[in-house]
Amino acid sequence: MTTKRNINVPFLKWAGGKAKIIDRIKELLPEGKKLIEPFCGSATVFLNTNYKHNLIADTNNDVINIYTHLQNEKIEFLEFCRQYFIPENNEAEKFYDYRKEFNETDDKRLRAALFLYLNKHSYNGLCRYNSSGGFNVPFGKYKKVTFPENYILNFIKKAKNAEFVVQDFEATIQNAQAGDVIYCDPPYVPLNASNSTFRYVEKIFSMAQQEKLAKLAGESADKGIPVLVSNHLTEFTEEIYKNAELTKFSVRRSISCKGDQREKASEVLALFR
Ligand SMILES: C[S@@+](CC[C@H](N)C(=O)[O-])C[C@H]1O[C@@H](n2cnc3c(N)ncnc32)[C@H](O)[C@@H]1O
Repeated sequence: MTTKRNINVPFLKWAGGKAKIIDRIKELLPEGKKLIEPFCGSATVFLNTNYKHNLIADTNNDVINIYTHLQNEKIEFLEFCRQYFIPENNEAEKFYDYRKEFNETDDKRLRAALFLYLNKHSYNGLCRYNSSGGFNVPFGKYKKVTFPENYILNFIKKAKNAEFVVQDFEATIQNAQAGDVIYCDPPYVPLNASNSTFRYVEKIFSMAQQEKLAKLAGESADKGIPVLVSNHLTEFTEEIYKNAELTKFSVRRSISCKGDQREKASEVLALFR
């Protein structure tokens, strides 16, 4: 399903989703036989490009688990997910019951369906786990939640040409072959140390990993495999991407769930080729 801007909208809500800058990304992405997305998240770039083959990876098991179920079971799995999207389930008590069930089940199919329910009913569509791996985002209190049927149908169509893997970015990039094109969307570097993003980023993706990614991107380009990386534009990213062609621009991003709390952030697309 597309929007007015002709964008294929992902069926998952995802922090750092790339819908707003998809046109700029598409302009810069080189042609190739296979698109590799080592940090897929909601997979906006995969959904809005037409490579013959696609390798879609992330370290988040739940994201890859739901993609795999949709790819294998298609409409049958869509219908299984639909049962949770009834008005009675858009209530705090039900939400916390399902969140508990999600955290306790060993059944991957059930976990995948509940992941979609949680993604659409939790606060701000956040995806956050505690130190024991339990999903711990509170209830979102949305007036109405719609089952994303058309977005899922679109994903099922695209998934015919994709392979989904749970994998760290280092292995995904190192396994790339000539003819592949890599688009990397790592968790953002912090804009400043007091920013709330800082704690989030620090915890899951370190500055050393950002540097490692830039190094691997340079090495891939030397092997003839182009890599496009997106990030905030900061002194740090300008330094680590200094061997790439940089496209700089600003984007209005919402910093909190309140629509009025938005600020313009500078972004960079770094093309290593
Ligand atoms: C900014 S999001 C990607 C957003 C995506 N482009 C979209 O449009 O929704 C970053 C992703 O990197 C994943 N991630 C974090 N650390 C990772 C790692 N070491 N290797 C691979 N993926 C990782 C997160 O799970 C998250 O999905």
